[in-house]
Amino acid sequence: MSAPRGQFSSNIGFLMAAAGSAVGLGNIWGFPTKAAGNGGAAFVVVYLLLAFMLAYPALMAELTIGRHARRNMVQALRGISTGPVSRFFANLAGFGGIVVASLILSFYAIVAGWMVAYLADPFANLFGMSGAAEWLTGNSTARNLTFTAIFSGMTMLIIAAGVEKGIERWSTLLMPSLIVLLLLLIVYVLTQPGAMTGLEVYLMPDFSHLSPELLIAAMGQAFFSLSLGVGTMLIYGSYLSRQESLPRLGALVTLIDVGIAFTAGLLILPAMYVAQEAGTQIFSETGELIAGPGLILQVLPALFDSMGTAGLFVAIAFFALMVIASLTSSISMLEVPVAFTIENLGVARRIATPLVGLVIFAISSAIIVNFDSLFGLVVSASTEYGQPLLGVALCVFAGWIWRRDQLLAELQKGHEDIKQTLFWKIWPWYVRIVCPLLILAAFIQSVI
Ligand code: PHE
Repeated sequence: MSAPRGQFSSNIGFLMAAAGSAVGLGNIWGFPTKAAGNGGAAFVVVYLLLAFMLAYPALMAELTIGRHARRNMVQALRGISTGPVSRFFANLAGFGGIVVASLILSFYAIVAGWMVAYLADPFANLFGMSGAAEWLTGNSTARNLTFTAIFSGMTMLIIAAGVEKGIERWSTLLMPSLIVLLLLLIVYVLTQPGAMTGLEVYLMPDFSHLSPELLIAAMGQAFFSLSLGVGTMLIYGSYLSRQESLPRLGALVTLIDVGIAFTAGLLILPAMYVAQEAGTQIFSETGELIAGPGLILQVLPALFDSMGTAGLFVAIAFFALMVIASLTSSISMLEVPVAFTIENLGVARRIATPLVGLVIFAISSAIIVNFDSLFGLVVSASTEYGQPLLGVALCVFAGWIWRRDQLLAELQKGHEDIKQTLFWKIWPWYVRIVCPLLILAAFIQSVI
């Protein structure tokens, strides 16, 4: 038998960890820029609908399976399988989740590494080290390898400390800091000239953008943002006590995730228009708002530069926010393969963590060295193919393969009056039929 499993010490601890996983670069960078490019509030509305109608039910599938099995994704899916065929698919989906979580981490750590380098940059400027500052913001392979290594090292340190002392402790510390930083930045940016134009672009709905593409973009964003499909939420659920109500906690995680994504839009869009007011180009040659790396690595830094000394502190706050958001997400990704290594291979956490972490860092390094050919490929294989397909698999396991009475019994734990709720009446068939069909339909649309 392996060592005793970790467990979150309280529901707040779980909430901070799961919300920490959900809230990441996807919220602060992905959501606002997708909204800006897809009709502003029209996208926001569709996103809200999809988050609650599709992502939340899928999240509940992961949390329920995880808490019931109290094991990693491979063992959890095997445990609820009922025959050789479902067992085969359990292995396929279980290992698929571990591979996809690792691949997401391998590119996420590179982007997060940029954030760490840009956080170090204002400090270098404060101390008059202009050569160092230039290196930090120059896009060299050495810089990228160094900072991906630093970020991966931080992720490993937290995961090596375990569920309660690592994941829970750091998420509980970092998530409130994230919210404070975000709010402070919003207050500052909204007082700058140009901010209101940005707010308008963000909040005025342009429903002419409504299209299948918008739906697919919103669904992909919701899946990525709630960390679905790859077993992060499953494994966090497996560390959750049976005294807590799953539907309530899942709804809170969804609310926090959506709330912070929406709030981040109040920062990013106004900041872009403030940058424009200060003379920075914010539209690409094709006339679209710059949304890719250019936004975070050029537009916003140019804005901070134009703010003089205050800009140094704003830059520190902004990139600290990005690093915090990334870190509480990256730990949840690393926990997926680490939990598997601990539970299936019987390796101790302190050894499993650096072992798995180094393998993933090796993948990141390969991506950095072949950036142009590999980065986009890994992003799209993991998030456009891996996540939706695994999401379907998890809904099928929860809805069709897992014995109904066990599923319902698990939901009742920690929520005695659940039979009176709408959730009880809708979710069990919804996760069976509507979720997999909707995800599949959107997936097929996007692939075609
Ligand atoms: N939800 C995270 C974000 O929004 C990304 C993530 C994806 C985390 C998959 C874990 C698993 O940035």
